[in-house]
Amino acid sequence: MSTATPNATTVRTRVAIVGAGPAGLILSHLLAVAGIDSVVIDQRSREDIEQTIRAGILEQGTVDLLTEIDPHTRVHTVGDRHDGIELRFQGAGHRIDFRELVGRSVWLYPQHEVLKDMLALRLRTGQDLRFGVTASRVEGINTETPRVIATDADGAELIIDADFVVGADGSRSVVRPAIAGTSRDGYFREYPFAWFGILCDAPASADELIYSNSPDGFALISQRSPDVQRMYFQCDPDIDPNAMSEAEIWETLQVRVPGTTLKEGKILQRDVLRFRSFVARELRHGRAALVGDAAHTVPPTGAKGMNLAIADVVLLARALDTLLNENDTRLIGTYADDALKRIWKAQHFSWWMTNMLHSLPEHNEFDRQRQLGELRSVTDSEAGRTYLAEAYTGWPI
Ligand code: DHB
Repeated sequence: MSTATPNATTVRTRVAIVGAGPAGLILSHLLAVAGIDSVVIDQRSREDIEQTIRAGILEQGTVDLLTEIDPHTRVHTVGDRHDGIELRFQGAGHRIDFRELVGRSVWLYPQHEVLKDMLALRLRTGQDLRFGVTASRVEGINTETPRVIATDADGAELIIDADFVVGADGSRSVVRPAIAGTSRDGYFREYPFAWFGILCDAPASADELIYSNSPDGFALISQRSPDVQRMYFQCDPDIDPNAMSEAEIWETLQVRVPGTTLKEGKILQRDVLRFRSFVARELRHGRAALVGDAAHTVPPTGAKGMNLAIADVVLLARALDTLLNENDTRLIGTYADDALKRIWKAQHFSWWMTNMLHSLPEHNEFDRQRQLGELRSVTDSEAGRTYLAEAYTGWPI
């Protein structure tokens, strides 16, 4: 047991949630609906959380959930429904028509907009949400009274006594070592490339997303709003994002989407996204569980990250409802296995899209031709297109 410092503050709640990203916030909301109070902490400020640029695609099931839980969600007004994407290779575009194939869609609605909606919802309903609070460790997960030890914004120790602790605290989770023994114990794959991402002040170059496989490497043309666009191109993971001029960035993007003339504009922001796949070996132990990036990471191709986090949360909320309201341990007992089914499907999909679309340093002409054969197998076949549409729009939660 820990030795609390004399000036520590202790709060008591039913579920202590570390991390106020989409997973932590949605979980606290679903728990509140089930009559279970929680405290959510995050080391970042509210402004930082709302401004972090992340992926932009929400699956159909994610949008259905947001619509159900938040009457003020802006996903249908600010967000944009997309009924398909384009796969481009050898200079030709091939549309995957989601509506026609699976009767589902996705929404372009960036993660920080989801966060703004969820923060507003949590604060409107008077929930205990604390920013600038850094968790340092979790104790007692093998007892019925686990706790989170944290430091608040003023440097004072804060202890959160709970019935259950949830790590929704991202890939550098503080909760994960308490569950898995170490922070790195799991299944892991690195990729020898990254994405160079830009936000730019320009009109859209296409109505839908273009995922382009080209001999020079992958590019993705995405959007944000009528005047702001998001685009990515495959790059070396060690690249310095400031080393390229705007002209070089546009030239790199343009050669990778032959057939479309990109509408260029001022580059507002640039970043480099690392590629890795990871699944923690343990998602739950005793009275603690992991959700979202704390439990798994996917490479960005296919935009599964936030959607997967939200699917975890739906399962965990049900499990905590039965555990804490009915003292029934069955669903918490199967939470990890239940979540892992979807997690591994999404891992496979993200890995598959990544490998089908990117060039690898070791690729020879055989590999390149085989990749084009794979792309044709998907685009020429209704079964192939349907698999892509089903996985991209998301399996029902
Ligand atoms: C975006 C990111 C993705 O990883 C993806 O597959 C599609 C879109 C985006 O940020 O717009």
